[in-house]
Amino acid sequence: MAPEQLLNNKQTEKQEVKGYFETTGFDRWNRIYSDSDDVNKVQRNIRIGHQKTVDEVLDWVKTSNELTNVSFCDAGCGVGSLSLPLAAMGAGSIQASDISDAMAKEAERRARDAGLNMAKLNFSASDLESIRGSFHTVCCLDVFIHYPQPAAEEMVKHLCSLTEERLIVSFAPYTPLLALLKGIGQLFPGPSKTTRAYTLKEAGIVKAAEACGFKLVRRSLNQAPFYFSRLIEFRKA
Ligand SMILES: C[S@@+](CC[C@H](N)C(=O)[O-])C[C@H]1O[C@@H](n2cnc3c(N)ncnc32)[C@H](O)[C@@H]1O
Repeated sequence: MAPEQLLNNKQTEKQEVKGYFETTGFDRWNRIYSDSDDVNKVQRNIRIGHQKTVDEVLDWVKTSNELTNVSFCDAGCGVGSLSLPLAAMGAGSIQASDISDAMAKEAERRARDAGLNMAKLNFSASDLESIRGSFHTVCCLDVFIHYPQPAAEEMVKHLCSLTEERLIVSFAPYTPLLALLKGIGQLFPGPSKTTRAYTLKEAGIVKAAEACGFKLVRRSLNQAPFYFSRLIEFRKA
C-alpha cells in the first residue's frame, strides 16, 4: 500500500477510536471502570483483570520508593483508574491525557469528587502522538490495543523520548491461540459495537524500547477470563 494511503488509513482509524470513546465507548468503559452493577459478565471480567494490572503498577511504584517528587505521565488515562490512586498515594505530579475529551473530563470529575489535590493533577484531551514534555515515569496501560504492531513500536519510541527513568506499558500479547480465536471470530463477522483490537508481539515492543536505550526490568501477565494483558517496566539503561 502507498505510504499516503497508509497514513490516511491510520488517521481514519484514529478518528474512529476517538469517536467511539466520545460516545458508546465512553458509556461502556465508564461503567466497566467503576463499581456499577450495570455490566455484563464479560465486562465484569474485564474490570477484574484491568484492576489487577492497575494494582500491580501501584505496587511496583510503591515498592520502588519513587513516588513523591516524581513526575508521572498517564498516557491514554481513560477515566483515571491509575492517575487517581497514584495521586492519592502522594505522587509528585501527574499529567494525564486521553484522546477522548469525555474520558479526560470524567477522570477530572472523579478526581475532584475524590477530594484529590488538583494542583498536582492535570487532565487534558490529547492523543499519545501529541504528548510533549519530560517525565520521570511514563505509564501507558491498555491503550496499545488500538495500535497495530509497527505503530505500537513507533509509539514505544515516542514514549521513551518523554521518559527520564521509568516506562510502564501494558498491552494484549500476541499468542497463537488468541490469533486462532480471532481468526475464527472473523469468519463470523457481526455488527461490531467496538473498535478493531490488535494483539502485539512482545519481542517487537521490547526491541523498540531497547533501541531507545531502555531495558526490561520486570514483567507480568494479568488475566481474567476475558482479559489478557502483558505488563512491562522498562528503565533507562
Ligand atoms: C481500555 S482504555 C484504558 C484506559 C486507561 N489507560 C486505564 O488503564 O484505565 C483505552 C483508552 O485509550 C484511549 N486511547 C485510544 N487511542 C488513543 C490515542 N491514540 N491517544 C490517546 N488515548 C487513546 C481511549 O480513549 C481509552 O480511554
